[in-house]
Amino acid sequence: MNIVIFSGAGLSTESGIPTFRDSGGLWEQHRIEDVASPEGWTKNKKLVLDFYAMRFIKQAECFPNPAHDAIAELSKIHTVVNVTQNIDTLLERAGCENVWHLHGRIDMQKCESHHSLAFPEQYDFDCDYKSLITKPIQIGDSCPQCGGQLRPDIVWFGEPVDMREEFLMEQIRIADIFIGVGTSAQVYPAAGLLPMFRRTKEKYFIDPNPNYDLLDGYTVLKGSASEQLPKLVAKLL
Ligand code: APR
Repeated sequence: MNIVIFSGAGLSTESGIPTFRDSGGLWEQHRIEDVASPEGWTKNKKLVLDFYAMRFIKQAECFPNPAHDAIAELSKIHTVVNVTQNIDTLLERAGCENVWHLHGRIDMQKCESHHSLAFPEQYDFDCDYKSLITKPIQIGDSCPQCGGQLRPDIVWFGEPVDMREEFLMEQIRIADIFIGVGTSAQVYPAAGLLPMFRRTKEKYFIDPNPNYDLLDGYTVLKGSASEQLPKLVAKLL
């Protein structure tokens, strides 16, 4: 069977990584525009790098939880495509191979002028440098191709998400099952995935606080990811 799993911060919260919009969530402690926008980067690069350094260290200290492990188990038997808004690598660390990070990855860096996506007006050249990191990025860490400051390979607010249209259309066509888990589905274009999969016959949504307005046609499994996903996976196996 072909299974698409669309996840958000709720998938990783039981590993110790806070969600964004719940009380005590990540954004509550920061102004989004200061730490996750091209304007914030232009204003104060050190603040942005410190914020992502904290998240890089935090995620390295966390481990996959039973929900990530259940998805990895499912991937051994079925063809599972993970579409995640999470920038952590807990799915990969649980053993999942097919993971599409819509908003980028915390363990990757790119040049600040990468394809000029973030700052088309500031750069008159494109640099396509990207690489994995093993320690947080610092001010002065420079791109080996063009000398530009390196930044996290994260999609900030106001930056385009690569929706890989062809691949996505194929997934919509072939998916037998769609599972949404741990997302408030408020941030577009990612949130648009829910209506896109409306014709998939078997659809599940796992969240302790589901937004029923978005979930017409879904079997809603109210509860935490680590409680509900292993049960659902046991059923699907
Ligand atoms: N198990 C499953 N879901 C949970 C759990 C849990 N243990 N705890 C909380 N949740 C749910 C919440 O009820 C909420 O619906 O996870 C969801 C988290 O929502 P958000 O904090 O809005 O996170 P997410 O949907 O991933 O945000 C999308 O927005 O801020 C941007 O770029 C950021 O990728 C992020 C995007």
